[in-house]
Amino acid sequence: MNNKNSNLLRYQKYLDNWDSVSSVRSKPNKYQMTSEHLDAELNERRWFIKEGVPILEHPLLKGMDRECEQYLLGRFLLQFLEYGTILEHEFVNTILADMALGESGVPIPDRMRVDAFKIYTDEAYHAQFNMEATQQIRDYIGMPVSEAWPLQNSRLIGLRKLIPQNKSRENFLVRFGIVVASETIAPKELTETMKGIVIEPIYNLFVDHAEDEKKHCMYFSALFEVVWNYLSDDEKQYLGLIFPKILKSFVDINKVALFDALAKIGVDKQSAKMIIDDSYPEDFCVKRALSVASSTFFNLERLGVYSISGVRDAFKAEGFARA
Ligand SMILES: [Fe+2]
Ligand SMILES: [Fe+2]
Repeated sequence: MNNKNSNLLRYQKYLDNWDSVSSVRSKPNKYQMTSEHLDAELNERRWFIKEGVPILEHPLLKGMDRECEQYLLGRFLLQFLEYGTILEHEFVNTILADMALGESGVPIPDRMRVDAFKIYTDEAYHAQFNMEATQQIRDYIGMPVSEAWPLQNSRLIGLRKLIPQNKSRENFLVRFGIVVASETIAPKELTETMKGIVIEPIYNLFVDHAEDEKKHCMYFSALFEVVWNYLSDDEKQYLGLIFPKILKSFVDINKVALFDALAKIGVDKQSAKMIIDDSYPEDFCVKRALSVASSTFFNLERLGVYSISGVRDAFKAEGFARA
Protein backbone atom coordinates (compact mmCIF):
# COMPACT_ATOMS: atom_id res chain seq x y z
CA MET A 1 0.00 0.00 0.00
CA ASN A 2 1.50 3.35 -0.92
CA ASN A 3 1.65 6.26 1.45
CA LYS A 4 -1.13 8.15 -0.34
CA ASN A 5 -3.59 5.28 0.02
CA SER A 6 -2.69 4.63 3.64
CA ASN A 7 -3.47 8.25 4.55
CA LEU A 8 -6.84 8.06 2.84
CA LEU A 9 -7.73 4.74 4.46
CA ARG A 10 -6.66 5.96 7.88
CA TYR A 11 -9.10 8.85 7.92
CA GLN A 12 -11.86 6.86 6.19
CA LYS A 13 -11.87 4.24 8.93
CA TYR A 14 -13.11 6.95 11.30
CA LEU A 15 -15.63 8.56 8.99
CA ASP A 16 -17.08 5.11 8.17
CA ASN A 17 -18.40 5.15 11.75
CA TRP A 18 -19.61 8.75 11.56
CA ASP A 19 -23.23 7.83 12.43
CA SER A 20 -22.19 6.26 15.69
CA VAL A 21 -19.27 8.51 16.74
CA SER A 22 -19.93 12.11 15.66
CA SER A 23 -21.37 14.39 18.34
CA VAL A 24 -24.28 15.55 16.23
CA ARG A 25 -25.31 11.98 15.35
CA SER A 26 -24.67 10.15 18.57
CA LYS A 27 -24.09 12.25 21.68
CA PRO A 28 -26.63 13.74 24.08
CA ASN A 29 -26.66 17.51 24.49
CA LYS A 30 -25.08 18.01 27.92
CA TYR A 31 -24.18 21.64 27.35
CA GLN A 32 -27.15 23.56 28.74
CA MET A 33 -26.59 26.23 31.43
CA THR A 34 -29.58 27.72 33.20
CA SER A 35 -29.03 30.82 35.33
CA GLU A 36 -29.86 28.74 38.46
CA HIS A 37 -27.21 26.23 37.47
CA LEU A 38 -24.68 29.00 36.84
CA ASP A 39 -25.54 30.69 40.17
CA ALA A 40 -24.70 27.44 41.92
CA GLU A 41 -21.50 26.72 39.96
CA LEU A 42 -20.17 30.29 40.05
CA ASN A 43 -20.83 30.75 43.71
CA GLU A 44 -17.87 28.51 44.44
CA ARG A 45 -15.94 28.51 41.22
CA ARG A 46 -14.75 30.82 38.48
CA TRP A 47 -15.63 30.73 34.79
CA PHE A 48 -12.14 29.59 33.92
CA ILE A 49 -8.89 28.93 35.78
CA LYS A 50 -6.99 32.14 36.49
CA GLU A 51 -3.70 30.71 35.23
CA GLY A 52 -5.23 30.37 31.75
CA VAL A 53 -5.60 34.15 31.41
CA PRO A 54 -2.13 35.75 31.85
CA ILE A 55 -3.35 39.36 32.29
CA LEU A 56 -4.79 38.40 35.69
CA GLU A 57 -1.24 37.94 37.03
CA HIS A 58 -0.29 41.51 36.13
CA PRO A 59 0.65 43.80 39.08
CA LEU A 60 -1.76 46.51 37.84
CA LEU A 61 -4.64 44.08 38.32
CA LYS A 62 -3.58 42.83 41.73
CA GLY A 63 -6.22 43.30 44.38
CA MET A 64 -9.03 43.41 41.82
CA ASP A 65 -12.38 42.44 43.33
CA ARG A 66 -13.89 39.01 42.65
CA GLU A 67 -16.67 40.41 40.49
CA CYS A 68 -14.24 42.08 38.05
CA GLU A 69 -12.05 38.98 37.95
CA GLN A 70 -15.08 36.81 37.28
CA TYR A 71 -16.13 39.20 34.49
CA LEU A 72 -12.70 39.00 32.77
CA LEU A 73 -12.71 35.20 32.98
CA GLY A 74 -16.26 35.03 31.62
CA ARG A 75 -15.30 37.32 28.75
CA PHE A 76 -12.31 35.11 27.94
CA LEU A 77 -14.53 32.07 27.66
CA LEU A 78 -17.15 34.00 25.72
CA GLN A 79 -14.71 35.28 23.12
CA PHE A 80 -13.25 31.80 22.60
CA LEU A 81 -16.65 30.19 22.04
CA GLU A 82 -17.94 33.01 19.87
CA TYR A 83 -14.79 32.93 17.75
CA GLY A 84 -15.42 29.19 17.26
CA THR A 85 -18.90 29.82 15.89
CA ILE A 86 -17.64 32.31 13.31
CA LEU A 87 -14.54 30.33 12.35
CA GLU A 88 -16.59 27.21 11.60
CA HIS A 89 -19.15 29.09 9.57
CA GLU A 90 -17.04 31.67 7.74
CA PHE A 91 -13.87 29.69 7.05
CA VAL A 92 -14.15 25.93 7.61
CA ASN A 93 -17.58 25.30 6.15
CA THR A 94 -17.11 27.47 3.08
CA ILE A 95 -14.03 25.43 2.10
CA LEU A 96 -15.84 22.17 2.89
CA ALA A 97 -18.76 23.20 0.68
CA ASP A 98 -16.32 24.10 -2.14
CA MET A 99 -14.76 20.65 -1.78
CA ALA A 100 -18.05 18.76 -1.62
CA LEU A 101 -19.53 20.56 -4.62
CA GLY A 102 -16.32 20.50 -6.66
CA GLU A 103 -16.09 24.29 -6.82
CA SER A 104 -12.43 24.52 -5.89
CA GLY A 105 -11.31 23.31 -9.31
CA VAL A 106 -9.25 20.58 -7.62
CA PRO A 107 -10.51 17.05 -8.36
CA ILE A 108 -10.85 14.99 -5.20
CA PRO A 109 -12.15 11.42 -4.79
CA ASP A 110 -15.97 11.06 -4.71
CA ARG A 111 -15.74 9.62 -1.23
CA MET A 112 -13.90 12.74 0.03
CA ARG A 113 -16.67 14.97 -1.32
CA VAL A 114 -19.31 13.15 0.72
CA ASP A 115 -17.04 13.17 3.77
CA ALA A 116 -16.60 16.93 3.33
CA PHE A 117 -20.35 17.26 3.90
CA LYS A 118 -20.17 14.99 6.97
CA ILE A 119 -17.58 17.32 8.46
CA TYR A 120 -19.63 20.34 7.33
CA THR A 121 -22.49 18.89 9.37
CA ASP A 122 -20.24 18.44 12.42
CA GLU A 123 -19.03 22.03 12.13
CA ALA A 124 -22.55 23.43 11.80
CA TYR A 125 -23.39 21.62 15.04
CA HIS A 126 -20.25 23.02 16.72
CA ALA A 127 -21.25 26.51 15.59
CA GLN A 128 -24.73 25.93 17.00
CA PHE A 129 -23.72 24.60 20.42
CA ASN A 130 -20.99 27.23 20.79
CA MET A 131 -23.52 29.93 19.96
CA GLU A 132 -26.06 28.60 22.43
CA ALA A 133 -23.42 28.55 25.18
CA THR A 134 -22.31 32.11 24.33
CA GLN A 135 -25.90 33.32 24.53
CA GLN A 136 -26.24 31.75 27.98
CA ILE A 137 -22.97 33.32 29.15
CA ARG A 138 -23.91 36.68 27.64
CA ASP A 139 -27.28 36.65 29.39
CA TYR A 140 -25.63 35.76 32.67
CA ILE A 141 -22.94 38.47 32.58
CA GLY A 142 -25.36 41.11 31.29
CA MET A 143 -24.04 41.40 27.75
CA PRO A 144 -26.97 40.27 25.58
CA VAL A 145 -26.55 39.42 21.91
CA SER A 146 -28.28 42.68 21.02
CA GLU A 147 -25.15 44.37 22.44
CA ALA A 148 -21.91 44.02 20.50
CA TRP A 149 -22.53 40.91 18.43
CA PRO A 150 -20.23 39.52 17.29
CA LEU A 151 -17.32 40.42 19.55
CA GLN A 152 -14.43 41.73 17.48
CA ASN A 153 -11.61 39.23 17.28
CA SER A 154 -7.99 40.04 16.36
CA ARG A 155 -7.42 36.58 14.89
CA LEU A 156 -10.39 36.78 12.55
CA ILE A 157 -9.44 40.33 11.54
CA GLY A 158 -5.85 39.17 10.79
CA LEU A 159 -6.97 36.10 8.83
CA ARG A 160 -9.46 38.08 6.74
CA LYS A 161 -6.73 40.57 5.79
CA LEU A 162 -4.64 37.78 4.26
CA ILE A 163 -7.36 36.77 1.77
CA PRO A 164 -7.27 38.42 -1.67
CA GLN A 165 -10.67 39.99 -2.28
CA ASN A 166 -11.32 38.89 -5.85
CA LYS A 167 -12.55 35.38 -6.63
CA SER A 168 -9.14 34.18 -7.79
CA ARG A 169 -6.99 31.08 -7.42
CA GLU A 170 -5.04 32.94 -4.71
CA ASN A 171 -8.27 33.58 -2.83
CA PHE A 172 -8.93 29.81 -2.75
CA LEU A 173 -5.34 28.98 -1.79
CA VAL A 174 -5.30 31.32 1.22
CA ARG A 175 -8.73 30.18 2.43
CA PHE A 176 -7.67 26.57 1.99
CA GLY A 177 -4.40 27.17 3.88
CA ILE A 178 -6.30 28.83 6.75
CA VAL A 179 -8.64 25.86 7.03
CA VAL A 180 -5.82 23.30 6.86
CA ALA A 181 -4.11 25.20 9.71
CA SER A 182 -7.38 25.48 11.63
CA GLU A 183 -8.31 21.81 11.29
CA THR A 184 -4.86 20.48 12.12
CA ILE A 185 -4.55 22.82 15.14
CA ALA A 186 -8.10 22.49 16.54
CA PRO A 187 -7.78 19.17 18.47
CA LYS A 188 -4.72 20.41 20.36
CA GLU A 189 -6.01 23.93 20.93
CA LEU A 190 -9.34 22.67 22.27
CA THR A 191 -7.59 20.13 24.50
CA GLU A 192 -5.24 22.80 25.86
CA THR A 193 -8.03 25.32 26.49
CA MET A 194 -10.14 22.57 28.07
CA LYS A 195 -7.59 22.24 30.88
CA GLY A 196 -8.83 25.59 32.19
CA ILE A 197 -12.57 24.83 32.06
CA VAL A 198 -14.36 24.34 35.36
CA ILE A 199 -18.06 24.68 34.50
CA GLU A 200 -19.41 21.20 33.76
CA PRO A 201 -21.66 21.83 30.71
CA ILE A 202 -18.85 23.82 29.04
CA TYR A 203 -16.42 21.02 29.79
CA ASN A 204 -18.81 18.53 28.15
CA LEU A 205 -19.00 20.78 25.10
CA PHE A 206 -15.21 20.98 24.77
CA VAL A 207 -14.79 17.20 25.16
CA ASP A 208 -17.30 16.41 22.41
CA HIS A 209 -15.92 19.11 20.12
CA ALA A 210 -12.31 17.93 20.56
CA GLU A 211 -13.34 14.32 19.82
CA ASP A 212 -14.86 15.37 16.49
CA GLU A 213 -11.84 17.50 15.65
CA LYS A 214 -9.44 14.56 16.00
CA LYS A 215 -11.22 12.93 13.06
CA HIS A 216 -11.30 16.19 11.09
CA CYS A 217 -7.55 16.52 11.54
CA MET A 218 -7.05 13.14 9.82
CA TYR A 219 -9.36 14.10 6.95
CA PHE A 220 -7.60 17.42 6.40
CA SER A 221 -4.16 15.83 6.49
CA ALA A 222 -5.29 13.52 3.66
CA LEU A 223 -7.08 16.34 1.81
CA PHE A 224 -4.05 18.62 2.09
CA GLU A 225 -1.99 15.93 0.35
CA VAL A 226 -4.53 15.43 -2.45
CA VAL A 227 -4.85 19.17 -3.10
CA TRP A 228 -1.11 19.82 -2.75
CA ASN A 229 -0.22 17.17 -5.32
CA TYR A 230 -2.60 18.79 -7.82
CA LEU A 231 -1.21 22.34 -7.46
CA SER A 232 1.20 23.82 -9.98
CA ASP A 233 4.71 24.76 -8.83
CA ASP A 234 3.72 28.46 -8.71
CA GLU A 235 0.64 27.68 -6.62
CA LYS A 236 2.69 25.53 -4.23
CA GLN A 237 5.16 28.35 -3.79
CA TYR A 238 2.40 30.92 -3.22
CA LEU A 239 0.79 28.77 -0.53
CA GLY A 240 4.14 27.84 1.04
CA LEU A 241 5.20 31.47 1.29
CA ILE A 242 1.97 32.64 2.91
CA PHE A 243 1.68 29.71 5.33
CA PRO A 244 3.82 31.22 8.12
CA LYS A 245 1.63 34.37 8.06
CA ILE A 246 -1.49 32.18 8.28
CA LEU A 247 -0.07 30.28 11.26
CA LYS A 248 0.92 33.46 13.04
CA SER A 249 -2.47 35.07 12.55
CA PHE A 250 -4.09 31.87 13.67
CA VAL A 251 -2.51 31.95 17.10
CA ASP A 252 -2.68 35.73 17.49
CA ILE A 253 -3.75 37.18 20.82
CA ASN A 254 -7.24 38.63 20.75
CA LYS A 255 -6.14 42.08 21.87
CA VAL A 256 -9.31 43.81 20.64
CA ALA A 257 -11.38 41.75 23.09
CA LEU A 258 -8.86 42.24 25.91
CA PHE A 259 -8.93 46.04 25.54
CA ASP A 260 -12.71 45.99 25.47
CA ALA A 261 -13.06 43.75 28.54
CA LEU A 262 -10.53 45.81 30.52
CA ALA A 263 -12.33 49.05 29.56
CA LYS A 264 -15.61 47.54 30.81
CA ILE A 265 -14.14 47.04 34.31
CA GLY A 266 -12.80 50.59 34.34
CA VAL A 267 -9.14 50.13 33.33
CA ASP A 268 -7.90 53.13 31.31
CA LYS A 269 -6.44 52.58 27.83
CA GLN A 270 -2.83 53.30 28.76
CA SER A 271 -2.85 50.86 31.69
CA ALA A 272 -4.63 48.27 29.53
CA LYS A 273 -1.89 48.55 26.90
CA MET A 274 0.77 48.05 29.56
CA ILE A 275 -1.05 45.03 31.01
CA ILE A 276 -1.51 43.40 27.60
CA ASP A 277 2.03 44.14 26.32
CA ASP A 278 3.64 42.81 29.51
CA SER A 279 1.45 39.70 29.62
CA TYR A 280 2.02 38.72 25.99
CA PRO A 281 5.67 39.26 25.01
CA GLU A 282 6.77 39.51 21.38
CA ASP A 283 7.49 35.79 20.90
CA PHE A 284 4.24 34.60 22.58
CA CYS A 285 2.45 33.77 19.31
CA VAL A 286 5.34 31.84 17.78
CA LYS A 287 5.76 29.81 20.98
CA ARG A 288 2.05 29.12 21.00
CA ALA A 289 2.09 28.06 17.34
CA LEU A 290 4.95 25.66 18.06
CA SER A 291 2.97 24.10 20.91
CA VAL A 292 -0.42 23.69 19.21
CA ALA A 293 0.47 23.25 15.55
CA SER A 294 2.64 20.13 15.66
CA SER A 295 0.31 18.28 13.23
CA THR A 296 0.40 21.24 10.85
CA PHE A 297 4.21 21.35 10.89
CA PHE A 298 4.33 17.58 10.42
CA ASN A 299 2.18 17.86 7.29
CA LEU A 300 4.28 20.72 5.89
CA GLU A 301 7.41 18.62 6.36
CA ARG A 302 5.80 15.47 4.96
CA LEU A 303 4.67 17.20 1.76
CA GLY A 304 8.03 18.89 1.20
CA VAL A 305 6.72 22.44 1.62
CA TYR A 306 9.96 23.64 3.24
CA SER A 307 12.02 22.52 0.26
CA ILE A 308 10.35 25.12 -1.99
CA SER A 309 12.52 28.13 -2.72
CA GLY A 310 12.01 30.94 -0.20
CA VAL A 311 9.66 29.07 2.14
CA ARG A 312 12.16 28.37 4.90
CA ASP A 313 13.19 32.05 4.86
CA ALA A 314 9.53 33.12 4.97
CA PHE A 315 9.04 31.03 8.13
CA LYS A 316 12.18 32.52 9.66
CA ALA A 317 11.00 36.05 8.82
CA GLU A 318 7.85 35.39 10.88
CA GLY A 319 9.92 34.17 13.83
CA PHE A 320 9.74 30.41 13.25
CA ALA A 321 13.48 29.91 13.64
CA ARG A 322 13.37 26.13 13.68
CA ALA A 323 11.46 25.63 10.43
FE1 LIG B 1 -15.35 22.24 14.93
FE1 LIG C 1 -13.30 20.66 12.44
